[in-house]
Amino acid sequence: MPTVVITGANRGIGLEFTRQFAADGWSVHASCRTPDSAEELNAVEGDVTVYQADITSESDLAAFAGAVSGPVDLLIANAGVMGPKGEGQEFGSLDFEGWDETFRVNTMGPLRTAEAFLPAVEKAKGKIVAITSKMGSIGDSSSGRIIYRSTKCGLNMAMNMVAAACAPKGIAVATLHPGWVRTDMGGPNGLIDTTESVSGLRQVIDGLEPQETAPFLDYAGKTIPW
Ligand SMILES: NC(=O)c1ccc[n+]([C@@H]2O[C@H](COP(=O)([O-])OP(=O)(O)OC[C@H]3O[C@@H](n4cnc5c(N)ncnc54)[C@H](OP(=O)(O)O)[C@@H]3O)[C@@H](O)[C@H]2O)c1
Repeated sequence: MPTVVITGANRGIGLEFTRQFAADGWSVHASCRTPDSAEELNAVEGDVTVYQADITSESDLAAFAGAVSGPVDLLIANAGVMGPKGEGQEFGSLDFEGWDETFRVNTMGPLRTAEAFLPAVEKAKGKIVAITSKMGSIGDSSSGRIIYRSTKCGLNMAMNMVAAACAPKGIAVATLHPGWVRTDMGGPNGLIDTTESVSGLRQVIDGLEPQETAPFLDYAGKTIPW
């Protein structure tokens, strides 16, 4: 069966990816920061192996990638944070330390993850997807959150460059928006649940092909402008 690597798998969208791929018989390598307390993740049935990895840590990611033996068909760089709360995200009162940390998680984290797993994905001529946000689209500026938006916008640009580097290796790369999802991050007013989001994202992932420009798609397959 195919192999998938998922970061931030202990809750929310990452946990649902883990459940759905495991239910379909995939070999799932799921990481989180604290496996000992990841009760829901540890309870997922199927071929699931749980690893410790903070995506801001190069050594954690090296150990994670080293422990996953064999080709990886799909890497899902899912882990992310909203960043500083409230006014810390707004112009005039920006929390620059919080921005620094958010950038390390949301922008550099998926890139570190992709670099760590590149040899394994290349072996499978697999796929690399980053879970980004529509809030990283330059045209989508309806509400504030400078920090979250800019880190996802930076992720989109970086993944677009990764697509160009990976297309000649036969690797498909994409930036995917999961919708507004009811998770800890999305809150209770989100428009869809994790089941709908992840089912849609999996269909979108199925259709990905290597190409020089990374598609920026939502969970329904709709293109989002950069
Ligand atoms: N929910 C939405 O409406 C929505 C919309 C657009 C985009 N997204 C994106 O979708 C992805 C998943 O979000 P979600 O809604 O599932 O959020 P969530 O429920 O808050 O889960 C976030 C996950 O990321 C992990 N994480 C955070 N910092 C990490 C780090 N430094 N190293 C490793 N793991 C880390 C968390 O682990 P801990 O439990 O250890 O904190 C958790 O597993 C994120 O990239 C988010 O930006 C979500």
